[in-house]
Amino acid sequence: MNNVFDFSKPIAIGADHAGYEYKTMIVEMLEAKGFLIKDVGTHSKNSVDYPDFAHPVSEAVENGAAACGILICGTANGVAITANKHQNVRAAICWTDDIALLVRQHNNANIICIPARFVSPPTAEEMVNIFLATNFEGGRHQERVAKMACM
Ligand code: RB5
Repeated sequence: MNNVFDFSKPIAIGADHAGYEYKTMIVEMLEAKGFLIKDVGTHSKNSVDYPDFAHPVSEAVENGAAACGILICGTANGVAITANKHQNVRAAICWTDDIALLVRQHNNANIICIPARFVSPPTAEEMVNIFLATNFEGGRHQERVAKMACM
């Protein structure tokens, strides 16, 4: 059994304009729970490009500056595709509580990607809570995760 994330480090979070309001809500929720947060933006509803926020979150996870990451855009696909260009990033699109659980248990996902235009605010918050609280199961899943990287 593997431990959950190292929360002595901040959780990195980023979003584009489509995810800005959900990011604000999630940051408030997590700060109220005492988590450290590294918010890379965006900081308004003005139109922006999602890679400008997905890369800094992914770099923080990749280099160990962040415990894990949260990325939000309209469909979650733009941020997920960008994040998964980074070695040792496993960015998972989640749209139900069960998927948020399974991407930790089976895939050892270290960034949760939330499609703000397709999930409700309570679902987004609950998925984050589940993601942060769930351990990777290891075992046969570790063997599969070890095969993900391109050499
Ligand atoms: C922005 O309109 C939208 O394209 C973006 O949030 C995301 O869904 C892209 O994958």
